[in-house]
Amino acid sequence: MEETIKLKTPELFVLIERKFKQAGLPDEQAKEAANQLVFADACGIHSHGVVRLDYYAEQIAKGGITLHPETKFEQTGPSTAIFHGDNGMGQFICRQALEHGFKMVAESGLALVGVSKMSHSGALGYYLKKAAEKGYIALSMCQSDPMVVPFGGSEIYFGTNPIGIGAPCADRPPVVFDMATSVQAWGKILDARSKKQKIPTTWAVDKDGKPTDDPMKVQGLLPIAGPKGYGLMMMVDILAGVLLGLPFGKHVSSMYDDLTTGRNLGQIFLLIDPKRFTDPHEFKIKIKQMVDELHENKPADGFDQVYYPGELSQIKYETSIEGGIEIPTSIYEYLQSETVHFNQYNGKDAFAE
Ligand code: NAI
Repeated sequence: MEETIKLKTPELFVLIERKFKQAGLPDEQAKEAANQLVFADACGIHSHGVVRLDYYAEQIAKGGITLHPETKFEQTGPSTAIFHGDNGMGQFICRQALEHGFKMVAESGLALVGVSKMSHSGALGYYLKKAAEKGYIALSMCQSDPMVVPFGGSEIYFGTNPIGIGAPCADRPPVVFDMATSVQAWGKILDARSKKQKIPTTWAVDKDGKPTDDPMKVQGLLPIAGPKGYGLMMMVDILAGVLLGLPFGKHVSSMYDDLTTGRNLGQIFLLIDPKRFTDPHEFKIKIKQMVDELHENKPADGFDQVYYPGELSQIKYETSIEGGIEIPTSIYEYLQSETVHFNQYNGKDAFAE
């Protein structure tokens, strides 16, 4: 078992922020990105927490992220806009796009903001929660690097293209549903490789497109629920890629191919003000009622209770804020060191053993 160390969230934040700055990221952006990584780890979404830091640092140091992006907000209609991100840091670009979205939704009740050209933006739940805390329903989708075979295919085509939807709830934190459209994240395959464990044959395929239980043979991930997940990931690419005039499918830049140039990724944020449809207070009360009724649902064998989407992350978040976050000691040593990155991602084949 890997050794871990527990850090209080403010301590982890300071260490991550420092590393971002060491890599060259300006202060405000380092703060925003550090906030999101700590949020992900605090929620137990470790695939999108501090484990990503040395990748980001390498990309920043090598010029793959525009440090002073010349962003442009282009309102194309009463409720539609494109936020041009100039391949800036994903978290920083998304925050600005959302802020514009908040102004638009307050005025027109609806806002669809397409983010055009940015770097990896991390866990969608971070943005959805912010929007839902303001009382809005929020949907987001983004492109990611091609790693998944289409249903019935043997070659990778789509990314793990995540979809998330958040909604406010009375007397409770928002309900936030947030998932990749692949069965498992690539990080889980890496984890199985490092532990020399077999994987379920429902996760991934080998070079011939055959399901495999050997993590070393993985050459592509599988979509969730066969043709349904495959359909969803295609729709994500249509909305967050094609609609914005960006590369799509297998033409989306790979995460590790070239860390010296921008990734040109797309994302959308759809914000809805419930008050344009119903009494907003009633709306939140009814969501609470739904949650309460789900909690009263008799658990199936092997389950302790029914949870609503995002609830386990919320419980974990509260525990982490109180008691700290467990991170691998090797990452802690990296955080404390003067090493900016390990120079291990540029040009790497994601599937190589
Ligand atoms: P996951 O499989 O851990 O969870 C998916 C959803 O199911 C969540 O809303 C979770 O709250 C809910 N859930 C899980 N267990 C539950 C239970 N027992 N009862 C009720 N609900 C439950 O998430 P996944 O697919 O591994 O995604 C992790 C993160 O990766 C997400 O934040 C996603 O946005 C992010 N991601 C980001 C990408 C990017 O390029 N920016 C690409 C792919 C994923």
